[in-house]
Amino acid sequence: MITMRGFVKIFTYGCQMNDLDTQKMYSMLFKKGWHPTTDTSRADIIILNTCSVRQKAYEKAISNLGRLKKYKERKPSLIVAVMGCVAQQEGENIIKRLPYLDIVLGTHQLHKLPDIIDGESRCKRPIVDTTFDHHILSMDVIPLKRFLTPPHKAYINIMQGCNNFCSYCIVPYVRGREISRDYKQILDEIENLSKNGVKEVFLLGQNVNSYRGGITFPELLKRINDIDGVERIRFTTSHPKDMSDELIECFGKLDKLCNHIHLPFQSGSNSVLKAMNRNYTRQNYLRLIEKLKSVKADMAFSSDVMVGFPNETEQDFLQTMDLVNAVRFDNLYSFKYSPRPGTKALSMVDNVPIIEKQRRLSILQEKQRQIILSNNLARVGNVYDVIVDGISKRDPKAVYGRTTQNSIVNFKGSSEIIGSTVKVKIEKANPNSLTGELADGS
Ligand code: SAH
Ligand code: SF4
Ligand code: F3S
Repeated sequence: MITMRGFVKIFTYGCQMNDLDTQKMYSMLFKKGWHPTTDTSRADIIILNTCSVRQKAYEKAISNLGRLKKYKERKPSLIVAVMGCVAQQEGENIIKRLPYLDIVLGTHQLHKLPDIIDGESRCKRPIVDTTFDHHILSMDVIPLKRFLTPPHKAYINIMQGCNNFCSYCIVPYVRGREISRDYKQILDEIENLSKNGVKEVFLLGQNVNSYRGGITFPELLKRINDIDGVERIRFTTSHPKDMSDELIECFGKLDKLCNHIHLPFQSGSNSVLKAMNRNYTRQNYLRLIEKLKSVKADMAFSSDVMVGFPNETEQDFLQTMDLVNAVRFDNLYSFKYSPRPGTKALSMVDNVPIIEKQRRLSILQEKQRQIILSNNLARVGNVYDVIVDGISKRDPKAVYGRTTQNSIVNFKGSSEIIGSTVKVKIEKANPNSLTGELADGS
C-alpha cells in the first residue's frame, strides 16, 4: 500500500495529446501517493496542462495561472506546476511574469514530474526544464486503468512532434520534431489494454501518417487489427499530403478501423493553401475524400479549417465554403487565424480585420450546422453498433455512446450496459447528436 500524501488537481486544455498527458500525470502521481481531487482549494498540487495553438488558448493559460496566486497565498506549501505547450514556449520567461510558479516542464519532460515534486517540497527554487530529447521517455508512460475515461477506451501515443511547419503553426516549435515510438512498445501496450477490457484504441500523434517507429503506419494498423479483444481503432491527426493509397486501402481491408477520419483541410483556396505551406491543393483533397468513399461507402469525415489567414480574399473564403458544401463533414472545428510567435506567417501582415474574420466564421459555422443536421436526418431509421460510453448527463435513465462513424447516440438504458456494444435504431436527429432506442437482439 502506498501512503496517501495529498491531493492533486490538473486543469487540461488543448488537444487529445494533452488529455492523454493528463492521464499519465495523474497515474504517475497516484503511484507516489497523490490522489486526484475535483476541489481546487483542497489540492496540494495544482497543475495546468496548457495549449498554445491559438493566441486565445495562450491568453487563457496565462490568466488561469494568474488566478492560482490566491491559492498559493492561502496555502504556501501548495505546488503550482505549468506543463504542456505554453510551458515549452515560455520556459524561464513565465517565472518572471508569475514568480509564484514552482515547476515549468516542457513537452519532452513530463516523466520528470513525480521526482521533481518529491524534491520540490524540500527545495525552494522554481524548477524549469524545457529541453528537447531524442527519445521522449513520457511516450512509454502507461496510464493506469482507473484514469481512462471511459474505461473501455484508451489513447495511445504513437509519435510526437511535427516536421511540416505549416506557416501559421506553433506546434513544431512547442512539441519539437517528429519522434516515433517503437512499434513493439505500442503493440505491447495495446495487448495489455485489451486483456484489461479496453475495446477501442485511439492512436495519437500530431501527424500520425508520418509514423516511423520500425514499421510503417499502415503496417502498424494491420498488426493492431490482429489483436484479440480490440473492436475499434481510431487515429488522429492525419495530414492530407501523407494520405498514401496504402493507408486509404486500410479502411477497406481492416474490419476494426472505424468508418471515420479526421482530415484537416484548413482552406479551400489553393493560393491560401500554398501560403500556409500545406503542400496539397483543393483538388488533391477532394480526390482523397472520393478515394476514401470508394473503399468504404459510409465513411464519415471531420476536419479543421481556419478563416482570415493573411491575404485571404472573399473569393478564397467562398472556395472554403464550396469545399464544405462538397464534402459535408460530420464535424468541423473552425477557427479565426491568429499570429503565433516564431512562425513564418508572423512576418505576413495579419490584414483581414477581426470583424471580417468573425463574419466569415459565422457564415461558415451556420452552414456547417445545417449540414450536420441534414447528415443526421439521413441516419434516422438506420441501426448502428454503438459502444456505450456512460450515463447521459441530461437523463439518468439514458446512456450515450458512439457509432463507428463517431456520431454520438443517446438512448434509454442502464449503467449495466456501459462498455458493451449494442445495436441502436436511430429515431431522431439533433444538431450535434442522434437519439435512438435499443434494437431487437441487443
Ligand atoms: N496536427 C494537427 C493539429 C494542429 S492544431 C494538424 O496538422 O491538423 C489544431 C488546429 O488548430 C489546426 O488544424 C488549425 O486548424 C488550427 N490552428 C493552428 N494554428 C492556428 C493559428 N495560428 N490560428 C488559428 N488556428 C490555428
Ligand atoms: Fe501544425 Fe501543420 Fe504540423 Fe499540423 S501538420 S501540427 S497544422 S505544422
Ligand atoms: Fe495545443 Fe500543444 Fe495540442 S499547442 S493543440 S496542446 S500540441
